[in-house]
Amino acid sequence: MKAREIKPNVYWVGAVDWNLRNFHGYSTDKGSSYNAYLIIDEKITLVDTVKYHLVDEMIERIKSVIDPAKIDYVISNHVEMDHSGGLPAIMKLLSSKSTTLFTSVNGEKGLKNHYHSNSTNNCSNWNFKKVVAGDSISLGKYTVKFIPTPMVHWPDSMISYIPELKLLLPNDAFGQHIASASLYEDEVGWDIVKMEAAKYYANIVLPYGKNVQSVLKSVSEQNLAIDMIAPSHGVILRTNTSIEKMIHLYQKWSSYTADDNKAVIVYDTMWGSTEKMAHAIKSFFEEKMVATKMISLSHTHISDAMTDIMEAKYVLIGSPTLNNTIMPTVGALLTYMKGLRPTKKIGFAFGSFGWSGQSVKHIEEALRELEFEMPVAATASAAASIKYIPTNDDLENLKRSLHSLVR
Ligand code: FEO
Repeated sequence: MKAREIKPNVYWVGAVDWNLRNFHGYSTDKGSSYNAYLIIDEKITLVDTVKYHLVDEMIERIKSVIDPAKIDYVISNHVEMDHSGGLPAIMKLLSSKSTTLFTSVNGEKGLKNHYHSNSTNNCSNWNFKKVVAGDSISLGKYTVKFIPTPMVHWPDSMISYIPELKLLLPNDAFGQHIASASLYEDEVGWDIVKMEAAKYYANIVLPYGKNVQSVLKSVSEQNLAIDMIAPSHGVILRTNTSIEKMIHLYQKWSSYTADDNKAVIVYDTMWGSTEKMAHAIKSFFEEKMVATKMISLSHTHISDAMTDIMEAKYVLIGSPTLNNTIMPTVGALLTYMKGLRPTKKIGFAFGSFGWSGQSVKHIEEALRELEFEMPVAATASAAASIKYIPTNDDLENLKRSLHSLVR
């Protein structure tokens, strides 16, 4: 277990979670990493830690550079346990000296709410030092400037910035769930990184667009020179092109700017009728020259569907009526969307039924709650709900009913 130097005297000492496949409900097909950074200066500083089960790996990496007991400062940019889980073990190692733990005001509260009762993890003897916007500390040659980023994506979240190195340590922001032997975006490839950053944004950061915008504004107003972004998950960005592209994507996603030419049809089906409707809707969009993606929730995880929902202007959701309501897969998606709050979309609900036919109403209500524009009210259109098995005429009718959807 070796540390890896990413800038002069700054080392990656994190851990790769190769087997992670579920991150609180988000499917992480490529695993992830928890990136912690060790700065060797007059004040030896550890920025963030790793998930608790990988703490020994982090400590081994630190040991490859220095005796961990020599750490003077610890910075906790974020309380969530994928970054603070290793803190109790580290603070225990440092308990004989007065190591200072820098964190935001909400960071201190959050850490105290996490590490209180268990005697091994008890934080009562940690030497907290709260930092606020504009605060900085000198490590010797290097300075760490703190930029609180509340609700990007927790109240305690914070960015650390080292001006002498043009190095941004933004914790969760700009992250991607990728487990890789390579540390850098240019070794993994921009297309993969972009795809995983989009999925990460859609599933973690999406509800906090306004907060992201204010962080981007603050970073821009402070004129921070940045030539490396080292997030707490996934790979590090070290080329100007990738840094510019990622910031541009965050501008786009946080302003809820959709791709005008993109539609996504997300559905589940019992006996293939709702799927036939989905195919008819796809052919309608193709005739309008709108790129359209079909997502069957029997085959695709809701967290993958979220990425396309975030990016598309048109979001069409279908379910047959099952037991007077919708299929559980579609229910799970709508619940997930309610929390993640994609917005500025044009929506449409559709589905087949046998005798009662409530599914379209349920879906439409959920999309209206999200304030989607619904130029074609499915509940008022016989074409959106089809009994048993659609005929060709039914499907043509459905396509005709969609004309006012595309602008
Ligand atoms: Fe990567 Fe909010 O934790």
